[in-house]
Amino acid sequence: MSAYTEARDSAREDPSGFWLAECGRVDWTVPPTIGLDSSAAPLYRWFPDGELNTCANALDRHVAAGRGDRVAIIHDSPLTGSLRHITYAELLSEVSRFAGVLAGLGVAKGDRVLLYLPMVPEAVVAMLACARLGAVHSVVFGGFAPAELAVRIDDAHPTVIIAASCGIEPGRVIEYLPLVDEAMALAQHSPKARVVLQRAQAPASLAPGDVDWAVAMAGAEPHAPVPVRATDPLYILYTSGTTGKPKGIVRDNGGHAVAMAWSFENVYGMGPDDVWWAASDVGWVVGHSYIVYAPLICGATTVMFEGKPVGTPDAGAFWRVIAEHGIAGLFTAPTAIRAIKKEDPQGSLLAVHHVSSLRSLFLAGERLDPDTYAWATERLGVPVVDNWWQTETGWPIAANLRGLDSLPIKPGSPSLPVPGYDVRVVGPDGADLPPGQDGAIVIRLPLPPGTLPTLWGDDERFIDSYLSTHPGCYTSGDGGYLDEDGYLYVMGRTDDVINVAGHRLSTGSMEAVVAAHPAVAECAVIGVHDELKGQVPRAFVVLKAGADIAPERLQQEVVASVREQIGPVAALKQVVIVPGLPKTRSGKILRRTMRGIADGRPEPVPSTIEDIRVLEAITPLLRE
Ligand code: COA
Ligand code: AMP
Repeated sequence: MSAYTEARDSAREDPSGFWLAECGRVDWTVPPTIGLDSSAAPLYRWFPDGELNTCANALDRHVAAGRGDRVAIIHDSPLTGSLRHITYAELLSEVSRFAGVLAGLGVAKGDRVLLYLPMVPEAVVAMLACARLGAVHSVVFGGFAPAELAVRIDDAHPTVIIAASCGIEPGRVIEYLPLVDEAMALAQHSPKARVVLQRAQAPASLAPGDVDWAVAMAGAEPHAPVPVRATDPLYILYTSGTTGKPKGIVRDNGGHAVAMAWSFENVYGMGPDDVWWAASDVGWVVGHSYIVYAPLICGATTVMFEGKPVGTPDAGAFWRVIAEHGIAGLFTAPTAIRAIKKEDPQGSLLAVHHVSSLRSLFLAGERLDPDTYAWATERLGVPVVDNWWQTETGWPIAANLRGLDSLPIKPGSPSLPVPGYDVRVVGPDGADLPPGQDGAIVIRLPLPPGTLPTLWGDDERFIDSYLSTHPGCYTSGDGGYLDEDGYLYVMGRTDDVINVAGHRLSTGSMEAVVAAHPAVAECAVIGVHDELKGQVPRAFVVLKAGADIAPERLQQEVVASVREQIGPVAALKQVVIVPGLPKTRSGKILRRTMRGIADGRPEPVPSTIEDIRVLEAITPLLRE
């Protein structure tokens, strides 16, 4: 029996015992004696009688073990021309003092704190300071607009908002404070205070009552870690669902810490002496799990990169960072590799920067297409490891476990279910499908530690969205199949969620904005294939009778409102006027059929279609 099958089988046979045995990876103020609490099934909780502090696990224990001089964060920012190394001892000092600042502003255990911060070390300081107090952080990605920020403020009810004065994108500086002002004006809930991190690229004029980060830190007293129950929330991270209202994914403290420690070693094959780089953003789940928590809980060095794979300054940026910092593992989205490949197809910049420290490249966030897999494998000469997961799970569901058992890689597949996840592919009746047959990918309950216990303040929505379609299982929202060897193939979402450049977006929320244009009678937004970004949204609109608007103007206005209401990250650039939208007789728009035609897949025409002529009329427009 291989190490993989042994771990997989024992996690399946006795989940509670398997994970309880892994608890020693983290320090507890009260060690748990119970693994899984099933008393409120299908809502499960992990380690219900354990107590710990996540920040103490990420910092204090390493300093106490004599590793205070080890570099915790390397902040490499080609966008500002700066490079910083921060040791564990320095980070502990910053975090404990910033926790003192937050406590002084009235933040206590269980309170929420909203963070609107770019890729700066202070984002990690703020996250860990919340964790230190037992407060719950909610980081909002900088590419979202004020209206999205307002929805999160009204759902999480933060006591304090922490924002930077600006974020930086190539060629432009984005002032954050006006966006926060606008969001606060839109929101019903009013936080007690705002802390502003001033950045030299665009210092903000503070409003009365605003707290300047640097000023507050100058006189701050350190705060000790506050023990919390393992089941208490550590953070809320909002993600796109099928409707416009984002889902507040809750992460607990205990299960999460164990899952981070276990996966960093077993899935990614990394340890405390490694330099690791997750090239994502702290605003996404990859940033939470693998820029911040996993590497720090394990005592490794994590790289924070404020730049892009191309253009900062060239397509060699990633190779330069690997060579300069001796990176052992890189995690990014396939789209980043496609961007590099497009600019430097021969990989000639790899001759300039020597990447011999790299042991593996991990790719996730969207489907890894075989061309990108082949290019990266050939050019880098290291295993290229696809791994499939979601904001909801917080760590990989399927992967090739580099630290446990390096099994053969099959291009196009994120390999095998990770121990703890009992992955099935089922048909509409919920029955397991035979190998090779496409269906819904579900996971038998209970999910392992570290996965979402619920949605913030909404157990009912959690059950409705994930647990009711296939009772006894978590519905992932992805479709695909298992092969004869049990390898999983993830073919894409079965709902209205799309992945644009590794960013998860809801077409439903874009449709709401498009439909509000005065000339639009109805619309459908679908994700269409894109060479670089994997998918991009395209809007198909039917004009109101008598609407007189030039297509270019309509496109310009719709694109501007999506940018303004959802944010630039939505990347909606194309608006196509169509004579009608294909619908069923009951009036449901056939988005799936439209997606299939746009992607060139032979889609059977549903027998319930209302008017076949509409479909025929828009087919050439879908394929354009
Ligand atoms: N704040 C403000 N605006 C932001 C932003 C942020 N944090 N992040 C992105 N944007 C803006 C971009 O500037 C761009 O604006 P534009 O339309 O004016 O050009 C828009 O949102 C779309 O951004 P993006 O989808 O990232 O496209 P891009 O062309 O700037 O870059 C890639 C494309 C492929 C290079 C980039 O998306 C990338 O590196 N992705 C892979 C890594 C990753 O972060 N994956 C996430 C999960 S692992
Ligand atoms: P997010 O919640 O932003 O991490 O996005 C999760 C979604 O991204 C999944 O439901 C998938 O649709 C997609 N995804 C993530 N990783 C992969 C992968 N390795 N292969 C295919 N799709 C992926």
